[in-house]
Amino acid sequence: MRRRFSVVHAVLLLVAAFALPLATAQPWPTCGTGGNYTAGSTYESNLQSLVTTLRANASSSPTLFASGVRGTAPNAVYGLLLCHGDVSPSDCFDCGTRVDEDVGKVCNRTKDAALVYNQCYSPFSDKGDFLAATNNSGEFSLLISGTNMISSDVAGYDRAVTELLNATVRYAMDNSTRLFATGHGVGTDPGFRNIYSMAQCSPDLSPALCRSQWWKEFLFPKNGEGARVAGPRCYLRSELGKGSFYTGAPMVLLRADGISPRRRRRRMASLEDCSIFIRTPRIVHRDMKASNVLLDADMNPKIGDFGLARLFGQDQTRDVTNRIVRTL
Ligand SMILES: *[C@@H]1O[C@H](CO)[C@@H](O)[C@H](O)[C@H]1NC(C)=O
Ligand SMILES: *[C@@H]1O[C@H](CO)[C@@H](O)[C@H](O)[C@H]1NC(C)=O
Ligand SMILES: *[C@@H]1O[C@H](CO)[C@@H](O)[C@H](O)[C@H]1NC(C)=O
Ligand SMILES: *[C@@H]1O[C@H](CO)[C@@H](O)[C@H](O)[C@H]1NC(C)=O
Ligand SMILES: *[C@@H]1O[C@H](CO)[C@@H](O)[C@H](O)[C@H]1NC(C)=O
Ligand SMILES: *[C@@H]1O[C@H](CO)[C@@H](O)[C@H](O)[C@H]1NC(C)=O
Repeated sequence: MRRRFSVVHAVLLLVAAFALPLATAQPWPTCGTGGNYTAGSTYESNLQSLVTTLRANASSSPTLFASGVRGTAPNAVYGLLLCHGDVSPSDCFDCGTRVDEDVGKVCNRTKDAALVYNQCYSPFSDKGDFLAATNNSGEFSLLISGTNMISSDVAGYDRAVTELLNATVRYAMDNSTRLFATGHGVGTDPGFRNIYSMAQCSPDLSPALCRSQWWKEFLFPKNGEGARVAGPRCYLRSELGKGSFYTGAPMVLLRADGISPRRRRRRMASLEDCSIFIRTPRIVHRDMKASNVLLDADMNPKIGDFGLARLFGQDQTRDVTNRIVRTL
């Protein structure tokens, strides 16, 4: 049951929830009910032309993002293409090609359609509200896989997922370029030894807006082996697994160390200090991309060690990170 999922403020809210095996073929579409267009219509050619432009613009942009409108009402088509922050420009382009191939088919030409792929996310509509809004309100795709939960400690699993996503979102906010982050939670319970995560906001939202929108509007649905939520501007995914679904090393690494809830609360407070520190420009520009932010499951980023980073030269960041690894 997705008991805590709520997008309370959403103006136009269509939630598609599926219990899916994780390997289900892409894309995962959410199809609207607001009307259809016909083959060969002006709307269709505007849509195709928009997809082509978004593909070119997103794949050539440093943020892997593009949005825009093509045509005029009633045939205006609004859309965006957001490639995940870990894909190459050419993979972003290829994902745009898949959008081009799929957009008419998967939703049987409904004007509102959102396609979610492993590499990109692309919603379209004949209404521009979702592009004009500076928040994540609008149509959401929610995909859940509830199969194969091995652990009996569901509450522990939920907590681990929440903590990992929280840390991942925070890192994404601090990544001012792509508002993107990946995470890996390493647990002690054999039922959820490894959890992987991803978070991204479209870069036309400021980090401040992204931060204020994300957790306020929804709590991630848990109790599932994997879940992903795609709003008009933000994307969140977590998966229990044998291997990560993203490219490269995780940006956030969380390790469980069995600390009591009371110490946990104290350390949550210390994360606030740390995130202020992480946001200082020197650290963001140099350190974050070369190495991981290392946190344990109690969100304790070893602030003392981070503090040392200030004293080191830029090239010694990795040494600092290695020191943190050894202290765990
Ligand atoms: C759009 O397509 C759906 C499904 O194919 C169909 O049931 C519906 O009647 C169509 N709506 C309009 C407005 O043409
Ligand atoms: C794509 O990029 C071109 C050139 O920068 C720009 O003029 C155009 O408005 C962009 N279109 C979209 C839909 O992003
Ligand atoms: C798609 O929509 C058309 C009308 O817009 C309808 O005739 C057709 O049956 C629909 N196909 C499916 C698979 O829903
Ligand atoms: C999101 O933005 C739209 C358009 O600016 C606005 O109408 C709506 O109230 C906003 N929603 C929230 C939750 O702030
Ligand atoms: C943000 O993430 C991208 C993709 O992983 C990375 O290339 C970039 O260096 C990061 N930016 C910052 C400021 O950490
Ligand atoms: C994320 O962490 C912050 C501070 O550590 C906390 O205030 C917030 O409630 C957490 N959010 C969730 C959804 O757990």
